[in-house]
Amino acid sequence: MTQKTPPLPRRSILLLAGLLLAASAGLAAYSLLYRPGAGSSGIALVGGPFTMVTHRGEPVTEQMLIGKHTLIFFGFTYCPDVCPTELQVMTAATDALARQGIMVSPVFVSIDPGRDTPEVVKSYVENFSPALIGLTGTPEQVSQMAKAYRVYYAKVENAKSPQDYLMDHSSILYLMGPDGKFLKHFTYTTDAEALAKAIGQALDN
Ligand code: NI
Repeated sequence: MTQKTPPLPRRSILLLAGLLLAASAGLAAYSLLYRPGAGSSGIALVGGPFTMVTHRGEPVTEQMLIGKHTLIFFGFTYCPDVCPTELQVMTAATDALARQGIMVSPVFVSIDPGRDTPEVVKSYVENFSPALIGLTGTPEQVSQMAKAYRVYYAKVENAKSPQDYLMDHSSILYLMGPDGKFLKHFTYTTDAEALAKAIGQALDN
């Protein structure tokens, strides 16, 4: 018994083509981020050249990462909630590790060059830890570094008060090795103890 399949209407074909296109775009983005065949989690292609300015006004490049482990977080000083929490957690974790003799340098990178001048970043990072290094730059410099670290950010306009806009941004912590290369990422957490433990374990391997 054979049943003839009715031809797909034109609209379904277009819809199907659209879905396939979206799926392949998603797959392409995924394979861009993760190289297959490099362990169960893959190696994320995170990091690369950048030119920024520290909160002390010193120009720096990716060379600043060489010779020490760093923990990098992207955010903005006007962030009402996520950034201050995460900076507190990450500096608590790196301070705890330092007390065990494990040195990891915490770095905050602003994705709000419009408001985060080195002076603004300086008074901000000082709230968290004397070890915390703040980075900012021109919009182009910030964009280049965020792109290298695959960090998403976007301005959220505030119609009532344009200068009080917010920034939408990803909140991933990147652990970089003394060769300046990506080691591991950590998702947003409020548990400094667990974070310190996870970093310690990552450095043991
Ligand atoms: Ni934030």
